[in-house]
Amino acid sequence: MLLALLVGCAPAPSEEAAACVSPDEVSWDAFGDGFFTTWCRSCHSASTADRRGAPEGLDFDTLAEVRAAAAAIEQSVLTDQDMPVGGGLAADDRALLQAFLACDDDATSTATESPPPAAGTLTRDEVVARADTALAEGLPRADATFDVYVGILTEHGEPTCPFRLRLDAYQSTFAGCTTTRGWVFAGLTLRESGAEDGGLREWMAGDGFINDADGQRGVLGGELEWWAADPGDGPRAWWQTLRGTWGWEWEPGWYGEVPSFSLSYDGVWDGAEVTATVEGGITLGGASVYLDGVTVDSLAAPDAPVSGALLVRDDVGSWYTLVLREDGSGCGEIVDPAGVALGEGCPAWGPALASLRETP
Ligand code: HEC
Repeated sequence: MLLALLVGCAPAPSEEAAACVSPDEVSWDAFGDGFFTTWCRSCHSASTADRRGAPEGLDFDTLAEVRAAAAAIEQSVLTDQDMPVGGGLAADDRALLQAFLACDDDATSTATESPPPAAGTLTRDEVVARADTALAEGLPRADATFDVYVGILTEHGEPTCPFRLRLDAYQSTFAGCTTTRGWVFAGLTLRESGAEDGGLREWMAGDGFINDADGQRGVLGGELEWWAADPGDGPRAWWQTLRGTWGWEWEPGWYGEVPSFSLSYDGVWDGAEVTATVEGGITLGGASVYLDGVTVDSLAAPDAPVSGALLVRDDVGSWYTLVLREDGSGCGEIVDPAGVALGEGCPAWGPALASLRETP
């Protein structure tokens, strides 16, 4: 819906002087950062393990770097369509990038004025329904994503497809191969793991896709990172960050929805109870939410977070805010984008809590 709106309104990439249609939607945080992670930073990043020939110093890690290279990005991605290498960006993604570049121009030239927030269009129940949709499958987890990926390689990969650089580490390049059973692997993954701070830290980056024999797609785009303290007697600390678009249409749960996310977790787990804080956004089932410091303490409140705020986005990119009451009810007053209180809402937190309890 949102995508259709943007695509419908954004001028075709070849037209000049594109207008900034929906600035919140294509801001750096809401779009740019994730887009460059998914599509570009596997090669164009100061921290990439393998630039694969991308020019030294042409990195897209920060908004400033992207701004500085905006003309070249427009030329190579939108006009020539030869970036990411070989092209292949969907028309939707090109339109969003176009909108992002147009809005960023505006941001640079017209300084700070922002339009007054539009009045909300969603009712309280619709806000809660969207939150429930986005959270219904639980929260994406870096370690779980990696496990599913390894399962796919083990079950459906063959000795030469995808070609693996290191079997033990599941580092693969698959420049486009099809197994005898019809699975298609294209792109690459990189992985690093090592001891750090008394635990094990794992990192994986992906840029590619896997299609099953029926043509269902799996997407690996972005970075996953996770760390957990060595298992011991005491409580076990852990953290994770996930960015990009990951998922596999043939799998149950959130994987099957192929969500986009930018999430980070910080937690402690003692074998039964978890305390954790979640920050970041997820788009799943067409609904987008942002968890702003949502904190869970399962001993104090087994069924809902105890603090933080949940933001829910409407179709024009405005955000509704639900500030959680600190009584462990998981409920809070919902305020629309113009600051009008809509009444109390209680999203269903069960699936999100269940994911937090699966500590690595
Ligand atoms: C698989 C690695 C890879 C990925 C992913 C990738 N690039 Fe590149 N990029 C390259 C290489 C290699 C070159 C230099 C060769 C060339 O220009 O074709 C390059 C060159 C460029 C240039 C300079 C072109 C010029 O003519 O000055 C731009 C701008 C660029 N990339 C933007 C992007 C953007 C934006 C993305 C993401 C949408 C992206 N690239 C994704 C590898 C990559």
